[in-house]
Amino acid sequence: MYTGTADPWDLAGRWYEQRKYALTLAALPRRRYRRAFEPGCSVGVLTRLLADRCDAVLATDRVPTAVAEAAARTRDLPHVEVRALTVPEEWPEGTFDLVVLSELLYYFDGAAFTEILTRTVGSLEPGGTLVTVHWNHPVSEHRLTGTQVAPLLREVPGLVAGPEFHDPDFVLTLHHRPLADGSEPPSPARAEGLV
Ligand SMILES: C[S@@+](CC[C@H](N)C(=O)[O-])C[C@H]1O[C@@H](n2cnc3c(N)ncnc32)[C@H](O)[C@@H]1O
Repeated sequence: MYTGTADPWDLAGRWYEQRKYALTLAALPRRRYRRAFEPGCSVGVLTRLLADRCDAVLATDRVPTAVAEAAARTRDLPHVEVRALTVPEEWPEGTFDLVVLSELLYYFDGAAFTEILTRTVGSLEPGGTLVTVHWNHPVSEHRLTGTQVAPLLREVPGLVAGPEFHDPDFVLTLHHRPLADGSEPPSPARAEGLV
């Protein structure tokens, strides 16, 4: 996909992507996150937007030119780190209170799909958020559509399913880890004392 082009999906140019990224950011239940992990960051467009809401962002991709482009796009943001990393074989150290799997899971099935989710759960702090977003039309190199990804996520041990947004073109899901005492993290309204 990256041969001869820096941004094969025109992530930096399309209104479709801008709108989808805005919805992704708007869906996150917390105003601020401590440390986000975004594997498959491509050229770092979503990475920049995540950086507004996070004290630290680790963005990674398996393709070196994408890593270089994402690093250049976020060069002025010292709290963003961009690394070459192939998931699930390579996984970062430490924990995160936000994991973003945006347009990534449909490349996997079977053991690799399960491994990514197992590692995600293992990296998520109590109360942490997992947001996923996936294109919902058939593509030859995709093994799943967004509609097919969503029910698989609901079965992942250690995750509690939150809201889903079914757009004609993509499916966005939210999940969280329970808090340390096993309870649910408060909803945004509850967290601000509205209920
Ligand atoms: C469609 S782009 C999504 C970019 C970005 N997450 C977004 O939502 O705009 C998918 C990216 O995942 C990367 N990717 C695919 N398989 C990967 C893997 N096993 N490990 C890391 N990155 C991978 C590709 O190189 C590509 O940059």
